[in-house]
Amino acid sequence: MPWDSVIIFDTTLRDGEQAPGAAMTIPEKVEIAHQLARLGVDVIEAGFPISSPAQFEAVRRIVKEVSGPTICALARAKSADIDAAGKALEGGVNTRIHTFIATSDIHLNAKFADARYGKTIEEKRLTIKKMAVDAVLRAKTFTSDIEFSAEDAGRTGTDYLCEVVQAVIDAGATTINLPDTTGYCISDEYADLIRRVMNGCTFGQHVIFSTHCHDDLGLAVANSLSGVQAGARQVECTINGIGERAGNAALEEIAMALLVRAPHFELKTGINPALLTQISKIVSTFSGFQVQYNKAIVGRNAFTHEAGIHQDGVLKARETYEIMRAEDVGQDVQAIRLGRHSGRHGLFSRMDQLGIRIPPSEKDLIYDEFVRLADRKKEINDTDLFNLVHDYKNVKTEPHYKLESFQVSVGTDKEPEAKVTIRDLKRDEVVEKSATGDGPIDALYRAIDHAVNEGHDLVNYSIRSVSEGADAFGEVSVLISFGGPLFAGKASSTDVIHASAEAYMNALNSLAAHRAEEESIQFVGTGIMQAFGSGTPE
Ligand code: KIV
Ligand code: ZN
Repeated sequence: MPWDSVIIFDTTLRDGEQAPGAAMTIPEKVEIAHQLARLGVDVIEAGFPISSPAQFEAVRRIVKEVSGPTICALARAKSADIDAAGKALEGGVNTRIHTFIATSDIHLNAKFADARYGKTIEEKRLTIKKMAVDAVLRAKTFTSDIEFSAEDAGRTGTDYLCEVVQAVIDAGATTINLPDTTGYCISDEYADLIRRVMNGCTFGQHVIFSTHCHDDLGLAVANSLSGVQAGARQVECTINGIGERAGNAALEEIAMALLVRAPHFELKTGINPALLTQISKIVSTFSGFQVQYNKAIVGRNAFTHEAGIHQDGVLKARETYEIMRAEDVGQDVQAIRLGRHSGRHGLFSRMDQLGIRIPPSEKDLIYDEFVRLADRKKEINDTDLFNLVHDYKNVKTEPHYKLESFQVSVGTDKEPEAKVTIRDLKRDEVVEKSATGDGPIDALYRAIDHAVNEGHDLVNYSIRSVSEGADAFGEVSVLISFGGPLFAGKASSTDVIHASAEAYMNALNSLAAHRAEEESIQFVGTGIMQAFGSGTPE
């Protein structure tokens, strides 16, 4: 990697997916990975294979199906994790294992409190350093491209940080990532951290330092750019900045800052800016995380001038109030509109242009869906196409329950009432239930609850219009919980009551799939360990 370039390491599918409720299905992840490759990212962090069979499978499929970027898998500094990552990456052309362990005293005292890690903080530090080195050495048996992250580097003392980093470089780590895990650092401090560690260690040209900044104080992008100015040549980021808590540094903002201020940074990336808005929409659709209207680069108001004085200025000379153009980031691309008279050729060539790959065997089904949609909606734009493929792919993830039919009646003088017919596909039973409620959606959800016996709470329900016009698609997102994890369901339709029902069914299907996975996880987990011959995890 030349020193005048920055490696863009995308972690939308790993850290991004850790955002509560952002869980994506395997087909959605594979689709996003294809789009990331098209966008020009250098590294895709595809998942954390040891954490669940679904994560393992997502990494395995992305390695097999997506070409171009290096595909990376995350692993704690434990042999079972590294073996799972190595196994998931098997057969890949360019693969990376990313192993991490915490280095700050706060983490050491809390997470490694057990006396087997050492009684004093000095002893614990020695143990952690050894675990880091062992992890790198083990990872090297799978690939030569090894990234090491010192978790909570932002709050780790420089001397110990340098000691660990030097040890892992000597063991063969080729990328050193210094995460501000808690989003605590201020930009000059973070730059200083990168500088101090780079100056405090000895390494060759093949070793790259990396930023990984969280947005708890709204500084993730600023800190990443400061890290780059201090010498880091990899930035870890996510589309739309999704991620743990307040999220990660937003890829689109990093890429455009480096491009718009090229004379300032003098650093290139491989990102094609014209695809930024499109991928933002796909990630928003698949993760269910709406992009705020005023979000830099990809928000729908990011290029809209409202104040008269601004409009006047822009009409006279765009550069008065614009530092980049909407079309530079793909915001203004006039989408080709398709309709009921569009044929297969028109549909699939537009999908091709959008980078949506449909296997030949599935084209008939997609075309039938398109025709059904065109009957309901006059004009079909790009967002509608993404929604259509998304809904179709959701259906393909083998649901537990299927909504066969529903009726909702409302009126000024009567209590809203809903009736549903639901098929339990695992038991092959059909259940019919009805209920009344505070409004049509409440009645509908109560009827579904009676028919589907999955104990849970509805945490959030939201609805928004995702395409233009009076017959726009309404997209419904729901979050349900059962104790700990959240399960998201999304659906879109020109009929918002129907979308509400399907979104709820999708969330319930995720919950049912999770429960089935939990039941089998013990068995699968043991299977993975046995297959890798690594015994029980440390
Ligand atoms: O924020 C963090 O420290 C991480 C590491 C796993 C790299 O996400
Ligand atoms: Zn992180």
